Amino acid sequence: MHRHLRIQCEQARSEMLLPRLRTIPEKVPRSLERCHTIADLRERAKRALPRPIFDFLDGGAETEVTAIRNTSAFDDIQLIPRCLSDISSIRTTTRVLGQQIEWPVLCAPTGASRLFHTEGEVAVARAAAAAGILYFLSVSSTVSLERVAAASPGPKVFQLYVRDRDLMWELIDRCKRADYCALCITVDAPVVGKRERDLRSGFGIRPKWSLRSRLSFVRHPLWVAQRMGGGAVSLSHQIERPSTAGQSAKRQAYPPLSWREIRDIADFWRGPLALKGLMCADDARRAADSGVSAVMVSNHGGRQLDGAASSIEVLSEIAKAVSDRVEVILDGGIRRGVHVLKALSLGARACSIGRPYLYGLSAGGAAGVSKALDILRTELMLAMQLSGCTDVTSVDATFIRQFGHGRY
Ligand code: FNR
Repeated sequence: MHRHLRIQCEQARSEMLLPRLRTIPEKVPRSLERCHTIADLRERAKRALPRPIFDFLDGGAETEVTAIRNTSAFDDIQLIPRCLSDISSIRTTTRVLGQQIEWPVLCAPTGASRLFHTEGEVAVARAAAAAGILYFLSVSSTVSLERVAAASPGPKVFQLYVRDRDLMWELIDRCKRADYCALCITVDAPVVGKRERDLRSGFGIRPKWSLRSRLSFVRHPLWVAQRMGGGAVSLSHQIERPSTAGQSAKRQAYPPLSWREIRDIADFWRGPLALKGLMCADDARRAADSGVSAVMVSNHGGRQLDGAASSIEVLSEIAKAVSDRVEVILDGGIRRGVHVLKALSLGARACSIGRPYLYGLSAGGAAGVSKALDILRTELMLAMQLSGCTDVTSVDATFIRQFGHGRY
């Protein structure tokens, strides 16, 4: 099992393996019809995946207090509905990173998606395109950026962690050639957070599965068979290059990313550029000064610094700090359409989601992702109608009142 579930950094192999992975047909579970909330999809995902894989998807860092608060902090914000507004026409379209999108939600970058479904990133990109929204492809994807570009007609953003600089310029060049509409640099992961569920299960680049994990794989023979059919699940973009001695990929120490380099990337890319992982108003101002077009207010879904503020709690001060100089995207914690409306009220242009669409992907591939998006969109529309809000671009703080731990 070790051999087959190993995550490897070999683009060529990953490309070759995809057709073989499809030899076992995917069933779209009819049970999707009985899912009415993101929480329902989460339950389906929990049943569909071996426990260590579900825990990798669902977990946060350390005590998971930040991951939990990302969602629970929305409860401290109350909507103040307007009555007798003309809600016969509700407008949800907006512009993000130079693209018109149908409604203000984006699929955030998430790595290793073929762990959750054999079609992985392609399924998510297609569902996002069908929903008229942006898909962010992670550099830690299990399908290459060219393959995702060819498989989905929708606008796509490529997300990078900047470590190996030569590889970075190479990837940016490839994005240009493959027509990616924007770049996203994630800055909140200079090192990886302490994810204790993964430590217990033995999940990692080179997994060391615990006995409990092995038993869980035994209880999911279809999941295991689908991955064994084509060998390993591989990361496509070779995020760590082989060492000069030509041995296998090794973690190397690269110099930390600097603001100066953000400016260099913006100058070279010459297109929309998002910085993901900002939580501090000063950093957001610096981003605006460095040629960035959007800041994604994010703590990586609570997977990095446990104890960090929730993203919704710092959204308003960041939106005020940058004013209209850059777009502000709220990332993390969204589980309901009403959460999107609250984030827009506090100054977000749009919201990005990670786990909600991954629960859908795990539960039913592209159909499951579409289901997750459909749930959120339907709830957002309902929240807008019931609060008398007719246009996502004109929602403001007059729609909300805040209480609880403080005003944000
Ligand atoms: C992520 N996230 C992430 N972020 C990023 O910039 N690059 C990446 O490769 C990944 N990979 C990843 C994998 C998995 C399994 C998860 C759950 C998350 C973080 C992601 O983009 C986003 O910030 C959070 O998921 C947002 O929080 P919610 O929506 O999951 O609450």
